[in-house]
Amino acid sequence: MAVAERVLGQPVKRKEDPRFIQGAGRYLDDIVLPRMLYMAIVRSPYAHARVKAVPKEAALSVPGVVAVITGEDLEKAGLAWMPTLAGDKQMVLAVGKVLFQGQEVAAVVAETREAAFDGAHALAQVVEYEPLPVVVDPFKALEPDAPILREDREQKTNHIWHWEVGDRDRTERAFAEAEVVVRQEVYYPRVHPAPLEPCGCIADYNKATERLTFYVTSQAPHAHRTLLALVSGLPEHKIRVISPDVGGGFGNKVPVYSGYVCAVVASLQLGRPVKWVETRTENLQSTHFARDFHMTCEIAADRDGRVKALRVKTIADHGAFDAAANPSKFPAGLFSIVTGSYDFPTAFVEVDAVYTNTAPGGVAYRCSFRVTEASYLIERTMDVLADELGMDPVELRLKNFIPPEKFPYPSPLGWTYDSGNYAETLKKAMDIIGYWDLRKEQEEKRKRGELMGIGVSTFTEIVGAGPAHTFDIAGIKMFDSCEIRVHPTGKVLVRTGVRHQGQGHETTFAQIVADELGIPVDDVLVEEGDTDTAPYGLGTYASRSTPTAGAATAMAARRVRDKARKIAAHLLEASEEDVVWENGRFHVAGAPGRSVSFQEVAFAAYTNPPEGVEPGLEAVYYYNPPNLTFPNGAYICVVDIDKGTGQVKVRRFVAVDDCGTVINPMVVEGQVHGGLTEGFGIAFMQEIVYDENGNNLSSDFSTYLLPTAMETPKWETDRTVTPSPHHPIGAKGVGESPNVGSPAAFVNAVVDALSHLGVRHIDMPITPWKIWKILREHGIE
Ligand code: CDP
Repeated sequence: MAVAERVLGQPVKRKEDPRFIQGAGRYLDDIVLPRMLYMAIVRSPYAHARVKAVPKEAALSVPGVVAVITGEDLEKAGLAWMPTLAGDKQMVLAVGKVLFQGQEVAAVVAETREAAFDGAHALAQVVEYEPLPVVVDPFKALEPDAPILREDREQKTNHIWHWEVGDRDRTERAFAEAEVVVRQEVYYPRVHPAPLEPCGCIADYNKATERLTFYVTSQAPHAHRTLLALVSGLPEHKIRVISPDVGGGFGNKVPVYSGYVCAVVASLQLGRPVKWVETRTENLQSTHFARDFHMTCEIAADRDGRVKALRVKTIADHGAFDAAANPSKFPAGLFSIVTGSYDFPTAFVEVDAVYTNTAPGGVAYRCSFRVTEASYLIERTMDVLADELGMDPVELRLKNFIPPEKFPYPSPLGWTYDSGNYAETLKKAMDIIGYWDLRKEQEEKRKRGELMGIGVSTFTEIVGAGPAHTFDIAGIKMFDSCEIRVHPTGKVLVRTGVRHQGQGHETTFAQIVADELGIPVDDVLVEEGDTDTAPYGLGTYASRSTPTAGAATAMAARRVRDKARKIAAHLLEASEEDVVWENGRFHVAGAPGRSVSFQEVAFAAYTNPPEGVEPGLEAVYYYNPPNLTFPNGAYICVVDIDKGTGQVKVRRFVAVDDCGTVINPMVVEGQVHGGLTEGFGIAFMQEIVYDENGNNLSSDFSTYLLPTAMETPKWETDRTVTPSPHHPIGAKGVGESPNVGSPAAFVNAVVDALSHLGVRHIDMPITPWKIWKILREHGIE
């Protein structure tokens, strides 16, 4: 009997790639429907202004324009404001005033895309505004004489909320008694997920069937359907949301945007499909940003380097509307993972959110809700502490890691870490890169006046939200789902409640099913993104797919196998208890020669089911995770700095990740490469910048820079494997680890190169200009 090869852990080539690399993916803008109209949005050039008049006629007189929608129109329909995921409300189209540059003022619908843009342009020329004082700095926004931005709220300040977690008194005491205290202010700049495919939708309302089909670049189709039903009043069963191939999401495609609501309103009014696709500039100006956390971190420690307490204060700039995409109970997301990989006896964290005249947001850009900010902060400040104590950064880390025997580990900020062996991961990264040799090389180079730095980041992630008792988004509990249908010939259709945007679920989830059922990966088709067919789920973001829907997939496959066992017993004329599943076949215990394959069982499920057993072979599983998963990693970066230009060259970067059981090492490596490249962009090149008038100075790719293959360093990856004890196959998420863990490694390396000059911190992005100035300030030419 042939032993079925295990497909879990194999670098199976991605099933989705043939269509992507042949240009045969079907993205939103590839969809053209009969009688389709196009929509363009008129946006505010001002960051804060009263809107005096929106004279629609200017657009309506442009040939091809069929309708114009304004805030006033929406107000009459009760749709001028929509709820945000953070429990705030946001104007769909401006009513009364605008609060950020690029805010939606009117929607113009036309027979062609060009006519829609012409109409929007004509209208934009004549909208009357009365400029108001602008505030883009969150600290100034909190001053008593700051202009009040949100006049719609009862509370007449720009302060949105205060959130705190941890033991304040115990932490205060630990600081009072500490031998050493370090304090570092750290700004994590405003950045943007900037997926290559911007956001867009087609709303197709059929007046005869009263059904709305809504095609949208969505990371969470089911949640979008529910929110659409709640906002529009349409019955949910008459809404079908289809998320076609998605060209990158990174958190940008989780929220509901004004363009979506306007397209639905236009289609309802006109009874024709309406397409809206934003431009790159619209994407960078108005769809949701990430980060923008002004953080102060203090660590109390013993002189020998043992950490005693952590204290963090943060001002979070949320822009004009609090549209952060966080689970409801966590206004600052999972920022309280900020104690990281270290065994802090106590910690206390405070976050205050503030309105400014900037775009709304706070999306989880490739991170599990503010984990990147937390990880960057602790990894930066641990280096500050190492510098203060004159210790090597790895020695400080090794001394303070949560030891393997303490797992499951209750953190002082309320999490229960599932598993990890942080020292093993760090030591592996150190071996690969030759850490101590590099330190010697650095010493030699310093003598010659050369600038070389080594940066370490040993981060802990927190991914896979739920559990449902703690996590919900807009009230919807955070579980996820999988439905498996086995066809009579043993081929399998798998549908899940998440929606990949390039992460490879069509391959990796097929591997899970193939492994559980002993069938070839090619026999499994994975479908996601259609609410009419997929089971309900919360979507793909925050590295939650594998911990939640991946777990649901394994559990649904096991349900299928349980039923298959009954059918196998019937075929083998044995009792069910005597049937064993081994090496991908069912056989009678003690008689491996008497066996049947999964395919034979599948055929029998339709042609020869046993008495009393339902025909067919299907299962659905809604998986409510008992806990999150806590992947970790150790990243080490080596940089050389050119004294003449301030240019930083990343010479080496070693990333050792631990995401538990690996389903597909090639996919994991691809995820790590992508995330490291994003982290590199954030560390060295990117920032959404506003001038004092609220003009967005980084609203295209000539000012908001993406790393190309030219700038991107060579990544060296490896892994350790500490399975999650509560996940059915032991897997933890991985998609976000590299973006979460790498910025600190880059910055730590640069600061390390300059530490002998007394430099302790440099805010991102670390541009050559910043370094050049620092070098000149320290007399280095
Ligand atoms: O939610 P998202 O898909 O963005 O993140 P993820 O769950 O971390 O998964 C990213 C990709 O890596 C998926 O195709 C996973 O199935 C795959 N993966 C894996 O092969 N092994 C793991 N332990 C974790 C993820």
